[in-house]
Amino acid sequence: MDKLLIRGGRPLRGEIRISGAKNAALPELCAALLTPETMTLRNIPRLQDVATMLKLIRNMGATAEFSPDGTVVIESRELHFPEAPYEMVKTMRAAVLALGPLLARFGEATVSLPGGCAIGARPVDQHIKGLEKMGAEIVIEHGYMIAKLPKGWTRLKGANIRTDMITVTGTENFMMAAALAEGETVLENAAMEPEITDLGEMLNAMGAKVTGHGTSEIRIQGVEKLHGATHKVVSDRIECGTFLCAVAATGGDVLLKDGRAEHLEAVIDLLKAAGAEVQAVEGGIRVRSEGRLEAQSFKTTEYPGFPTDMQAQFMALNCIAEGDSKITETIFENRFMHVSELMRMGARIDVDGKVAITHGVERLSGAIVMATDLRASASLVIAGLVADGETMVDRIYHLDRGYEQMEAKLRELGADIERVK
Ligand code: EPU
Repeated sequence: MDKLLIRGGRPLRGEIRISGAKNAALPELCAALLTPETMTLRNIPRLQDVATMLKLIRNMGATAEFSPDGTVVIESRELHFPEAPYEMVKTMRAAVLALGPLLARFGEATVSLPGGCAIGARPVDQHIKGLEKMGAEIVIEHGYMIAKLPKGWTRLKGANIRTDMITVTGTENFMMAAALAEGETVLENAAMEPEITDLGEMLNAMGAKVTGHGTSEIRIQGVEKLHGATHKVVSDRIECGTFLCAVAATGGDVLLKDGRAEHLEAVIDLLKAAGAEVQAVEGGIRVRSEGRLEAQSFKTTEYPGFPTDMQAQFMALNCIAEGDSKITETIFENRFMHVSELMRMGARIDVDGKVAITHGVERLSGAIVMATDLRASASLVIAGLVADGETMVDRIYHLDRGYEQMEAKLRELGADIERVK
């Protein structure tokens, strides 16, 4: 199993490019299944989760070519196996995104229930309820969701769907299903993340009629057929935010090319309040930091609030900043697993339920630590970059799921970091 060896204490300087967003690429690879025509997706990041999704759609019978320049060309004229098996869903929950498109285009889908997850229970009840409102008949058997259209139906029917909570992949599943449904679908309480906006744009390029994406009410007028198109995946705001926190913590001066400041307002405002300089510049974001920052309290919420996917990384920063901070996690019930690992590096953190209080220390000390999930891994890397001595981050397969070439990018910025097999 690969590990990362980091010798901390170096400032980060230079420029790197932010990759395409994992959480846009995954639904968009599924959306390509909505048409028999050729789909070309550009700026797809080379990640383990993307590899799993490509394996999944090839397993269904589609062809998918991934070129070195990040372009994926997908053709799904017909699919002989409209299924997402457990082996794939258990390693990547986002496989549940196959449900909406398969059902809409082929009238049937068999998708494994994802089961538990390190960061919380993460049920998919809302996905099921919403698709049922559109007429789908879904039964759970042998751990699988088996979905089909009622007898005599050839398409799903548009519906009004209001989910009990805001769900990102739920909203995406409904958008994809509704694109080929009969009549209009209205999604209330819809997620507003930039990845949702990007998916809406891709669907419209394919001939769908989606409006309101990026707001809490999305309307989709179903069409009979979608056609082939080319779409460029939006840049990854979480990768960008992770590098912003890394530079703010280590000090230095970095240009993050293709970073989109307008997608990271909540994080950038807090970094500025902490004392870092963050500026939207042409083609990216520039971040500069020197000296010790001031710890900042925050609460994770849905977009445009502070993202849960940035909580662990900002916590690492708060741990070596001046003063205390109160961090409240409202999206997932078990997303503080990095806390005990950060404490092994000398951080002082108290956790009570969904609240973590950090008490800033002047230095962290390198240690062997274990990554527990994707964003937790990123926070340990940030801690390792500022710590004295050597930090070994174990189980970095979590990191490889969602960060493209993280150690290569950090090395380019002057970090002393290497992958140990
Ligand atoms: N929820 C339910 N029932 C449902 C759906 C969601 O109870 O049917 C709950 C979840 O358990 C959670 C909350 O609603 O407490 C929000 O979950 P959401 O459905 O929005 O999460 P998701 O769609 O499964 C996506 C990202 C996550 C990110 C969350 C929140 C993708 C592929 N994944 O997950 O990304 O944390 O939205 O922003 O888009 C990551 O990249 O590290 C990651 C975990």
